[in-house]
Amino acid sequence: MIDHDILIIGGGLAGTRAAVEIARMNPSLSIGLIAKTHPIRSHSVAAQGGIAATLKNADPTDSWEAHAFDTVKGSDYLADQDAVAILTQEAPNVVIDLEHMGVLFSRAEDGRIAQRAFGGHSHNRTCFAADKTGHAILHELVNNLRRHNVKLYDEWYVMRLIFEDNEAKGVVAFRIVDSQLEVFRAKAVMFATGGYGRVYNTTSNDFASTGDGLAMTARAGLPLEDMEFVQFHPTGLYPVGVLISEAVRGEGAYLINAEGDRFMATYAPSRMELAPRDITSRAITYEVRAGRGINYQDGSAGGPVVYLDLRHMGREKIMSRIPFCWEEAHLHLGIDAAEQPIPVRPTVHYSMGGIPVNTDGRVRSSATGLTEGFFSAGETACVSVHGANRLGSNSLLECVVYGRRTGAAIARYVEGRTLPSIEVSRYLQEAKQTLQALLDQPGQYRIQEIRQAYQDCMTEHCGVFRTEAVMQEGISQLKALQQKAEQIYLDDKGTCWNTELIEALELRSLMMVGEMILTSALNRRESRGSHSREDYPNRDDGTFLQHTLATYGPGGVALNYMPVVVNQFEPQERKY
Ligand code: FUM
Repeated sequence: MIDHDILIIGGGLAGTRAAVEIARMNPSLSIGLIAKTHPIRSHSVAAQGGIAATLKNADPTDSWEAHAFDTVKGSDYLADQDAVAILTQEAPNVVIDLEHMGVLFSRAEDGRIAQRAFGGHSHNRTCFAADKTGHAILHELVNNLRRHNVKLYDEWYVMRLIFEDNEAKGVVAFRIVDSQLEVFRAKAVMFATGGYGRVYNTTSNDFASTGDGLAMTARAGLPLEDMEFVQFHPTGLYPVGVLISEAVRGEGAYLINAEGDRFMATYAPSRMELAPRDITSRAITYEVRAGRGINYQDGSAGGPVVYLDLRHMGREKIMSRIPFCWEEAHLHLGIDAAEQPIPVRPTVHYSMGGIPVNTDGRVRSSATGLTEGFFSAGETACVSVHGANRLGSNSLLECVVYGRRTGAAIARYVEGRTLPSIEVSRYLQEAKQTLQALLDQPGQYRIQEIRQAYQDCMTEHCGVFRTEAVMQEGISQLKALQQKAEQIYLDDKGTCWNTELIEALELRSLMMVGEMILTSALNRRESRGSHSREDYPNRDDGTFLQHTLATYGPGGVALNYMPVVVNQFEPQERKY
């Protein structure tokens, strides 16, 4: 057994920022950080467009209240407004702190941090490092882990949360290089395990975004919040789905349809291409359905994409502000975006829902109760600052603000506590059996075929638009696929870097998460933010101004609801 005062699972922005805060508050605490990849390769590194904060460098009339209002309106009024106030008030301070750590933000003419426009934000408040902002921030945070002697367990796969009598006591994990199993024990455990984009067949997320932290939490009998709210980013590069940053539109690019029209004039006349993502993704889907999409190969009408047009922006601006997006289009499609439009369509990007936490990152056991020793922050958590739809550049901000707050809360929590007792041999034995059973089973299906069928099922049955009948069909297909997933076989029976074994475990996570998404979505009989029900096209505040709490049990998924904190902005009709 390996002991630490604190265990952090996940090496992205939220986990690393929490680790730095704990070390700053109490350098004598021993912190273990376990991650499936090296922290530098966490998906946060792929974040492009920026981090929102009312520094007022570009616009002195900006205020945290304006940022809070934009965030709440963007969330379709489902965000908890106490959490949003913290997010937006603490934003300038955390960005300056990052700069002091050494993050190389892009500069304005006067040398201050530059700020650009972003979707749904009423002022230019998004700070950035060209279009590689996550990369710039994560590298500094990871360097700081070394400075603070955080013990890294990179390329370890965490397969179970040890949660007994309402208390998190540790995790069971194995080292990927040799499959060595270990029980890790701690006074507090934090999950910062990121999102689940790989539930879908087209996503901007990396291959490691398989929802493992969410699935482990659900398996421990704890609820997941608002899982029906899946963010589709409007501009995924066709056909692969990788991200073409909103920063491209923030810097002035247009969205055009097969008729050459800037169609956003129909859907969000005051914001155009900088409408929130739910509205822009629906607009693209409407255009494609109406036959005004484009066939990328020959430019004819009736195809699956629209164009992101940068041609009027000029090569110099493209290369200085959004060089990575130019490079992506060039690498994948051979396009020179200064001369040719980029084909795009919505791609799964972000999870608004997740592990329910309070504003100190403490995980909830129910609508009214809290767990002991269990914390979470970042995309895997739901605090909930994004409600039904997140604004671009608020996710890096959430990771840093709530990573820091959660780290501080953990440092306070562990003070004076002793390590819990754990029956190590039982947990090791059970983990060994789970792995051995997967290696030994004589199944008939390959992982890849089940995973592909499952991702297609989720994409088809729980996408940008949803209906009761389509989602019911999705659930029955999912049930059938879950049974087939019990009959997968593995070619690799070895212990050295057995990625097939990891894929088998990830498939379980993906399927668990998908069931939570579909079940929560079926029961929300309204349209709000990213959850767009064609059979219930209106928002219904009377019934559904509430958070969903979905709990997994032997009888399937049980749903409960929790009030939304509304203390500053009364819900209004959402128009742009
Ligand atoms: O489009 C983007 O650069 C993404 C930013 C975000 O999701 O916050």
